[in-house]
Amino acid sequence: MPSASDIPALDARLTALSAGDRLRWAAETFGARAGIGTSFQPAGIVILHLAKSLGLNLPAFTLNTGLLFPETLELKAQLEKHLGITIEDLQPAQTVAEQAVTHGPELWKRDPEKCCGLRKVAVLDQKLFALDLWITGVRRDQSQERSVTPLVSLVARPNHTELVKLNPLVDWSREQVWDYIRSHQIPYNVLHDRGFRSIGCAPCTALPTSDDERSGRWVGFNKTECGLHNRPRPQ
Ligand code: ADX
Ligand code: SF4
Repeated sequence: MPSASDIPALDARLTALSAGDRLRWAAETFGARAGIGTSFQPAGIVILHLAKSLGLNLPAFTLNTGLLFPETLELKAQLEKHLGITIEDLQPAQTVAEQAVTHGPELWKRDPEKCCGLRKVAVLDQKLFALDLWITGVRRDQSQERSVTPLVSLVARPNHTELVKLNPLVDWSREQVWDYIRSHQIPYNVLHDRGFRSIGCAPCTALPTSDDERSGRWVGFNKTECGLHNRPRPQ
């Protein structure tokens, strides 16, 4: 397990590698304690495909909020079949109907921060106890806010212990990701053909309003991140 002082050298080493070799390092170093978190967006699809085609044993999971588009759920099934993998489906403590009783209906319209906290962040928090390496599809060119995202870093679990986070496609452009998907003929979310760029829960996803890939998320709210990637730093 790398410590904080190891991160700069590790970052330099991994930066020089291809995305595939970064994933190979992940599998060789962390084995079953590594996990690919995917929301079936383009970068996540590439990571799943790369891992499979390199024969890497890297388990994948998704945070199923119960509010995903039917097209996204269909894509999950398609990818599992296409790649011959199983993607673990993690669900919040409460169903959407139970949440409506406890917190009122359509919490996402009144307090999306709380809704994401209950339906995504709390679920990831639990999952991180089973992992020493969390692999995500965050890329620097997705938004201004993500432009300084590190390739590798340490992040905290809720009990302040730490694990490693790896964003193996952090330096890939949107075009690179789509070139990979097209050239390998990987199934992708059909909503992209209708103009959607960044796709999350149905109630909080709209067509992009600017060139910012994530501008269609939480439109009308002062919110640009669901909270998965704003984790506290290890103490
Ligand atoms: S986020 O705001 O929803 O977190 P985005 O949709 O751009 O951001 O996803 C970025 C990365 O966060 C994904 O590549 C994936 O690794 C992780 N992620 C986002 N949503 C989920 C989810 N529902 N399940 C698992 N991982 C997720
Ligand atoms: Fe709730 Fe919207 Fe967050 Fe999904 S993206 S968990 S619906 S606030």
